[in-house]
Amino acid sequence: MAKIKLCETALRDSHQSLIATRMTTEEMLPILSKMDEVGYYSMEVWGGATFDACLRFLNEDPWQRLRTIRDNVKNTKLQMLFRGQNILGYRHYADDVVKYFVQKSIANGIDIIRIFDALNDPRNLKTAIEATKAEQGHCQVAFSYTTSPIHNNEYFANFAKQIQEMGADSICIKDMAGLLKPYDAYELVKAIKEKVGDMPLELHTHYTSGLASMTALKAIEAGVDIVDTAISPLALGTSQPATEPMVAALQGTPYDTGLDMAKLDEISKYFSTLREKYLASGQLDPKMLKVDVNALMYQVPGGMLSNLISQLKAQGKSDKLIECLEEVPRVRADAGYVPLVTPTSQIVGTQAVFNVLLGERYKNTTKEFKGLVRGEYGTTPAPIDPAFVEKILGKDAKVIDYRPADDLKPEMDILREKCKAWEGMTDEDVLSYALFEQVAAKFFDNRAKERLGIDGKNSDSELGVHAI
Ligand code: CO
Repeated sequence: MAKIKLCETALRDSHQSLIATRMTTEEMLPILSKMDEVGYYSMEVWGGATFDACLRFLNEDPWQRLRTIRDNVKNTKLQMLFRGQNILGYRHYADDVVKYFVQKSIANGIDIIRIFDALNDPRNLKTAIEATKAEQGHCQVAFSYTTSPIHNNEYFANFAKQIQEMGADSICIKDMAGLLKPYDAYELVKAIKEKVGDMPLELHTHYTSGLASMTALKAIEAGVDIVDTAISPLALGTSQPATEPMVAALQGTPYDTGLDMAKLDEISKYFSTLREKYLASGQLDPKMLKVDVNALMYQVPGGMLSNLISQLKAQGKSDKLIECLEEVPRVRADAGYVPLVTPTSQIVGTQAVFNVLLGERYKNTTKEFKGLVRGEYGTTPAPIDPAFVEKILGKDAKVIDYRPADDLKPEMDILREKCKAWEGMTDEDVLSYALFEQVAAKFFDNRAKERLGIDGKNSDSELGVHAI
């Protein structure tokens, strides 16, 4: 039996799940070198929503964040989450953008790229896998875990085998909604290990439904190699199981992580102060920390639930929440049992709200839901009933049965051209623009003003910004 390795998620998923991805680089900086000393297998620090949040909310250059982390974390592997053909955005991008993004992520300090696709369509993973291999990065492929009449251990084990054959260096069970129960995890890990042999297997889960620590323990007993945890002040609730209790639970057993509790305590103290700050400012809502067993019933991940609540509130229909939650699994079934994770969670959630509020199912359908039914996001796990396709898209609608990104022409040259609108643009800036055109443009405008403020011989750069 091998020692269990831990991936610390404090700097990515944990704050994404608890405080809407608002942790700043400045808040991370003082603790980075200490974290590097702990002996984590890896630290997840980038990707997912952090890239968008840096540009959109924090006025930070996400690439600079990555370089700063890399400068201060010399020994521990740095890991990012990558949404296959969606990169870090919400639509499919052309292959040249995917490849270049992978190349630059690794060049700026990433060691492990965790690649997944919401629908588990291997065609949406292919370009990112090949690019990671070409750049000699560690290519971890994750599958979106869900439950449905077609999602069983055999399905996932076969998928794991398939991604192994596509070149994955390790495999991750991505349980984004905290649906995986302890004994199911045991069987799932056994089934996957049987298919893929020695290939390292990682468990990523969320505490949302209150099961995560138990699930991790059973997964460990079944042979999982790596577990994602978050330092305790930023753990539990919609985040990951806590690091220190995991270390303590395994101490002196054949699974001992070997991590030093005293060092972890120093890190825990640092993040406790941040947690107090987030609670005081209201950024951390204590509601996010509560066990929510509804997640198991409706399969709704944390982020999706808060979206549903705010959509209904905006319509003055908060009383319809339960009805909407009950509609979600029905819409999901109609749409071929898609796993609910960005972007499918938003698409299915919004359609469920429409169905309930309009008093008639599919009276009105969103552009995105039509796209999902048409195959624009990839092949759905179960085929969609042709009668339903006709109902949503009309008679003789053309359905996409090839890899959706095959329709996309190379984008990089056009993007480089457009980015000439700003001075001093780096290749990384062009990639920021590729993913979030409007948000990045605003960020570049702000930066240009700030630079002008400094260069304009104005001793107070802030004054410089306001003077323009
Ligand atoms: Co997650």
